[in-house]
Amino acid sequence: MESRLFATEKFGGRAVYRFHAVTVFLGICLVLYYRVTHVPGSGAGRAAWLGMLAAELWFAFYWVITQSVRWSPIRRRTFKDRLAARYGERLPCVDIFVCTADPKSEPPSLVIATVLSVMAYNYPSEKLSVYLSDDGGSILTFYALWEASTFAKHWLPFCKRYNIQPRSPAAYFSESDKPHDLHVLKEWSFIKGLYEEMTERIDSAAMSGEIPEQIRVNHKGFAEWNTGITSKDHQPIVQILIDGKDKNAVDSEANVLPTLVYMAREKRPQYPHNFKAGAMNALIRVSSVISNSPIIMNVDCDMYSNNSDSIRDALCFFLDEANGHKIGFVQYPQNYNNMTKNNIYGNSLNVINQMELNGIDSVGGTLYIGTGCFHRREILCGRWFTQDYKEDWDRGTRGKTQQCIDQTEEEAKSLATCTYEQNTQWGNEIGLKYGCPVEDVITGLAIHCRGWKSVYINPPRAAFIGVGPTTLAQTILQHKRWSEGNFSIFLSKYCPFFFGHGKITLRHQMGYLIYGLWAPNSLPTLYYVIIPSLGLLKGTLLFPEV
Ligand SMILES: *[C@@H]1O[C@H](CO)[C@@H](O)[C@H](O)[C@H]1NC(C)=O
Ligand SMILES: *[C@@H]1O[C@H](CO)[C@@H](O)[C@H](O)[C@H]1NC(C)=O
Repeated sequence: MESRLFATEKFGGRAVYRFHAVTVFLGICLVLYYRVTHVPGSGAGRAAWLGMLAAELWFAFYWVITQSVRWSPIRRRTFKDRLAARYGERLPCVDIFVCTADPKSEPPSLVIATVLSVMAYNYPSEKLSVYLSDDGGSILTFYALWEASTFAKHWLPFCKRYNIQPRSPAAYFSESDKPHDLHVLKEWSFIKGLYEEMTERIDSAAMSGEIPEQIRVNHKGFAEWNTGITSKDHQPIVQILIDGKDKNAVDSEANVLPTLVYMAREKRPQYPHNFKAGAMNALIRVSSVISNSPIIMNVDCDMYSNNSDSIRDALCFFLDEANGHKIGFVQYPQNYNNMTKNNIYGNSLNVINQMELNGIDSVGGTLYIGTGCFHRREILCGRWFTQDYKEDWDRGTRGKTQQCIDQTEEEAKSLATCTYEQNTQWGNEIGLKYGCPVEDVITGLAIHCRGWKSVYINPPRAAFIGVGPTTLAQTILQHKRWSEGNFSIFLSKYCPFFFGHGKITLRHQMGYLIYGLWAPNSLPTLYYVIIPSLGLLKGTLLFPEV
């Protein structure tokens, strides 16, 4: 087993949990038995009693569904030292997609902190390409990214020399104390100064809503906004801000920089844009003519990388000789750093992150949750799993025939137009699926149905950290979006029971159903909290007396 790049461990205390589950099951049976044998004779009491019975039957059913994942949760551990020993720097290329949609709700200075954190991964820079999809089509975001491309020349060598964490400058400077070493302090203050000046320029541009003329002349890309375009109506824009293959694109210490690309796909009012799934699909195509890496990672613009080894962790799965070829994607949890102390709305998602996703991993594979996920490019493009499948890990390293950057940009733009997908399988068989608010979950389900497994990894130091909802209103909004989306999957042709029938195991289907049935679960819950209290007012007892 020495050679394995990852290990799978069972949760401790399984026997205790199973014993507990059996007692709960017996309890449920006794409750139902009591309900059935004590139905009152007539009147409103009888109806309320039968309603209680129906609610309890539902809860019992839902409880059984959740046991599919709770019965045997597992944990994954990676061996990055073995990966390093075996592959050294001969690692595959990785494309990183960051999606942003609106410069108002997602301020450009926040977006580029995320971009900088993923550019600074502990990974060979020449193998890394970072793409920012800007669905707001905003010159402010483009400007911020241009600033980031300049700041990266100082930030990346600084991160690597002192091996600092986290590598989002915003998070780093707000968390870290001043270094004691005088020499380090000088450099630290210099970088901090650069960073603060940059954010100030970006924020004041965002406030005024325009970019000064003396900045516009610095890059040809600004000319794209000369035509009075709006966020809902504009031509495709692709600008390669740093070309990793260019020998002059180096940082302040003459090391290669990762490729950095800005993309705003074409938007026209008469064409549906399919939200984030549409942006991801455009990125898949645009990146195919620029870097075409075999691995694609995607992350939301508000989730910075808190762990510079996440790429290496994910590769331990894909490159594992024994089982790696079965794994289609590697999912990290969503962690938030601005939770309130008592976390009264449960927004830190502890049950999901520390139990359910582990459990569903053990029965066929974790859901794709739309952010913090590494995919093989091929599976996003619709490939089915076959035993003899061999990944082309050198893809992307060979580089295209020498084509100048303008030609590449033109080619990429033609792939990001509104009409490109017409009469194609994009959004259906290829790429992320369209037509559902939680397109990521269906996309993951379709990948599982094509025979691939997925794994869940939750390392001790969080891989990605974002800002979560904290108030009741934000929480309700998020839960509504998730439960509504998952319920609409349940009602659609992608219902895990039918779509997954014969393709994934019954337990895996049940795992998906936990989320699919979240929304209807609210009805018996409401009944259960309202009716017995009303019954008390009227003197109708719905529970046995002590
Ligand atoms: C974080 O939490 C605060 C409240 O604690 C909330 O108002 C805010 O929307 C969250 N996001 C950010 C960016 O602070
Ligand atoms: C994020 O990384 C820092 C180290 O830079 C670590 O101290 C912290 O615990 C991490 N956060 C989480 C939630 O794991």
